[in-house]
Amino acid sequence: MKNLNSLLAGIFLAVAFPFGVLVISSQVQLGSLGPAPAEEGGPLFPSREPGLAIQGRAVYVSLGCVSCHTQQVRPAGQGSDIARGYGVRPSVARDYVQQKPVLLGERRIGPDLANYGARAKGLDGVHAAIKHDGQFTFLYAGEKGHEVPTERAIALAAYLQSLRQDYSSPEAKLKQ
Ligand code: HEC
Repeated sequence: MKNLNSLLAGIFLAVAFPFGVLVISSQVQLGSLGPAPAEEGGPLFPSREPGLAIQGRAVYVSLGCVSCHTQQVRPAGQGSDIARGYGVRPSVARDYVQQKPVLLGERRIGPDLANYGARAKGLDGVHAAIKHDGQFTFLYAGEKGHEVPTERAIALAAYLQSLRQDYSSPEAKLKQ
């Protein structure tokens, strides 16, 4: 019995210790990360999301967009994200410091949206993208061809337009 207790304590420590180190070391490395200028005296990025975009983020969560869309651009050597036009530079931890919750996504079935705001073609283009497969037409009122966006669609579009990772940051400078 005594041996069993020490065995269980040993197993517990073997699991808990590395897990604790993982959590604490991430907190030490990234916990105090905040917006920063790419160069001294420059503007701080990432900036805060506009209020309507914050509401749109909640719509994005509630409709499960994360089940098909990621928000993380991989570095050039680890896939073709940049070549495909998903982003102009790889995503870094600092890009997410203003976001709550961070929506990295579950699976990538549709295009990555981390930098979607930079490539979106105007508000009409964003609404057309939301209706992409007829799945979200309930977000629009009125007849086909004359759809009027509901409040949820307006907020969601503002959120999608706010998704940008096209600024320089200390860890990921844009090539001049
Ligand atoms: C079942 C999977 C699926 C779900 C759920 C889904 N999408 Fe998509 N989405 C796709 C696919 C696939 C494409 C690309 C094909 C296309 O354009 O029709 C796409 C394209 C897009 C685009 C255009 C991206 C670009 O680079 O042009 C936007 C914006 C978008 N989706 C937003 C959303 C939003 C917002 C939601 C939640 C309301 C959502 N999607 C939910 C699969 C999905």
